[in-house]
Amino acid sequence: MGAPGSSCAFASLFFCLLSAAIAQRVKVLDEVTGYLGQEVTLPCTFVSTGNEIKVSLVTWMKEAAGRKQNVAVFHPDHEPSYPLETERGRIRFKTQTLEDATLIIGPLRMADEGTYACEFAAYPLGNEDGITNLVVLAKPTNTAKAQEVKASNLELPVAVCISDRGKPPARITWQSGLNGNATVSEVTNADGTVTVTSYYRMVPTKEANGQRITCIVEHKTQPQPEALPVVLSILYPPEVTIEGYDDNWYLSRTEAMLKCTAKGNPPPTEFTWSTANGPLPKTVEVQGDILLVRNVDASVNTTFRCQATNRVGRVSTDQVIFVRDKPNMEGAGTTGGIIGGLIAAIVAVAVVATGILICRQQQKNRMDREEDDQEGPPAYKPPPPCQLSDETEPEAPRYHELPTLEEREAAADAGPSMEDEYLDQINPIYDALSFAATEEEAAMAPMSTDKAFIMSRAMYV
Ligand SMILES: *[C@@H]1O[C@H](CO)[C@@H](O)[C@H](O)[C@H]1NC(C)=O
Ligand SMILES: *[C@@H]1O[C@H](CO)[C@@H](O)[C@H](O)[C@H]1NC(C)=O
Repeated sequence: MGAPGSSCAFASLFFCLLSAAIAQRVKVLDEVTGYLGQEVTLPCTFVSTGNEIKVSLVTWMKEAAGRKQNVAVFHPDHEPSYPLETERGRIRFKTQTLEDATLIIGPLRMADEGTYACEFAAYPLGNEDGITNLVVLAKPTNTAKAQEVKASNLELPVAVCISDRGKPPARITWQSGLNGNATVSEVTNADGTVTVTSYYRMVPTKEANGQRITCIVEHKTQPQPEALPVVLSILYPPEVTIEGYDDNWYLSRTEAMLKCTAKGNPPPTEFTWSTANGPLPKTVEVQGDILLVRNVDASVNTTFRCQATNRVGRVSTDQVIFVRDKPNMEGAGTTGGIIGGLIAAIVAVAVVATGILICRQQQKNRMDREEDDQEGPPAYKPPPPCQLSDETEPEAPRYHELPTLEEREAAADAGPSMEDEYLDQINPIYDALSFAATEEEAAMAPMSTDKAFIMSRAMYV
């Protein structure tokens, strides 16, 4: 049986026609795919062309190792027979008729895979059969996980991907930006399924910790390859630093602090503080990774040591503290000056902007009012000088006035600096220039707020 078409080329026409006729009477599928543990149907029907052909018996046979074994037999006078089966009902005819010999097998076992012949005993033609190939597939269970390893110079498996109990065996690959290789192994299980294991191997550096790689499993039972992400876990000892020393610990300073910071895998959670000479001074207070000094005294004029511990190791680092008699003006002064200058500049700009805005608003209001009053065509009129309201600056027009006698006397007492202020007041241009030059201090002193307004006034006059 099998290839009536090809045999036609060599056989006589009579046998060829007969063979084709027989092949068409028994209808089966060439191949049927079933899944392990599930049910499968092997269709088989006898197409009778007339009453002259009589079917008396239906037999399903399985070919295994060159031998034919009867799997299911049906005779209309008897109960169906399943000679190989020990488990009742796992193999059964779909219907009990001589025309339809469709067989149902389930739950499927791996051993059910093979070639099945569905045979009808017919008179006067003799036995006629159809052959079906049963393929049993098993859907694997796929998992992937990181293998925790310590950082080292040796190539080690850092991740494993397993495709368990598949049939046929799955194909496993890795997607990774890291410099590693995969090693694959296969184990055939007792039920005929195959477990595929792939290890991703690389030199485990601490930089690889937390990196993500992906295991890709391809299998006949999956429409899409399955992607299983893995985050690598490379263990490494703590890397410790001490932060918070500002080189300005001076006697009687309050609230100085050191903070111990440690990276590592697993993250270090245990911190131990000490000094290079031994135990901690009485005056410090430890709060986990923080060392708090409420009052700086000579006892903290020492080297502090922080030790961080994780599962992999215990590492310590030192911080030398220099306690001064007086505050360190250099470092702190510079920093303070820069910050102060920045704040001053911002304040000054804000003050100038506010002044201009207020002036403009006042001008606008005034012009609007005057326009409302006049009926005729609007003639050009210069905007009135911008003045701040009396509430905000009671001494608004002072810069044109000469100083009073008392003020002169006061100026004489105070020396040239007061004279400068007087100059400031009488000369708006000088004022504006000096303002630009000393923007910072201008904003700091209350007097300079006036200067800012004076400048804007000068611009509008
Ligand atoms: C792993 O791959 C590298 C190239 O990426 C190769 O040089 C090395 O020989 C491979 N190692 C193994 C064990 O296959
Ligand atoms: C701290 O120690 C240094 C020497 O290590 C010393 O020069 C300094 O005077 C000490 N400071 C105080 C406040 O004792």
